[in-house]
Amino acid sequence: MEMMELMKSRHSVRRYLEKPIAEDLRTAINNYIDKTRQESGLNIQVCYDEPRAFKTLLAHYGSFRNAVNYIAFVGKKEEQTKVGYYGEAIVLKLQELGINTCWVAVSYSKRKTALKINKGETILCVISFGYGETQGTMHRSKKAADVSEVIGEKPSWFDAGVEAALLAPTAVNQQRFKVICENGVITIRPNGIGYYVNIDLGIIKYHFEAVTKKKAEVIN
Ligand SMILES: Cc1cc2nc3c(=O)[nH]c(=O)nc-3n(C[C@H](O)[C@H](O)[C@H](O)COP(=O)(O)O)c2cc1C
Repeated sequence: MEMMELMKSRHSVRRYLEKPIAEDLRTAINNYIDKTRQESGLNIQVCYDEPRAFKTLLAHYGSFRNAVNYIAFVGKKEEQTKVGYYGEAIVLKLQELGINTCWVAVSYSKRKTALKINKGETILCVISFGYGETQGTMHRSKKAADVSEVIGEKPSWFDAGVEAALLAPTAVNQQRFKVICENGVITIRPNGIGYYVNIDLGIIKYHFEAVTKKKAEVIN
């Protein structure tokens, strides 16, 4: 599927069917995560069929059902933007495989999970996944003019990049970012203070670059 279409079809899904992920999909998911781990250097851990640990992880978020599979990013705060970038690549890969997802930023008790956490590291974010009860719904969105700015001439691909950015998931749907094009050079910056904005900015960067095939630099 074309990348923009894939982004349009992705919505957060928090309720899943009680159906284990098929073996061939597990292989595809594990392979993709291995590749991402190598490329990014991030500490990414995948858990399947783990109701107890995930219940604990998501104790705060009542709207989840049958959330027994998840991908956790373990590391240091400085890695948040990278987590967003590579995590969203995984989200879109899962979407392509017919698997639904939801980003979840959690406080947790490390004793109660199966995750291996080294000294000085924490769980930065989690992505739950499974076969959705539904495909979710499109989030309410800001307008392109609210989140973008052009200085100098506007490249032909810029609007598509901004559209892709607006399709991205952000914490509490805050969309606190700005995509700036200054004489063809793209930067992505926070727009005000919000929750997990640095993860959001990495997600936005992935959307922008995947659609335009142009580089965008995150300035935190
Ligand atoms: C960094 C981040 C953290 C999130 N944390 C949570 C969370 O803790 N609980 C939850 O239910 N949804 C969480 N979400 C999902 C957002 O609420 C969701 O992406 C947003 O409302 C936009 O909807 P969409 O993903 O369907 O486009 C998170 C999303 C991001 C990007």
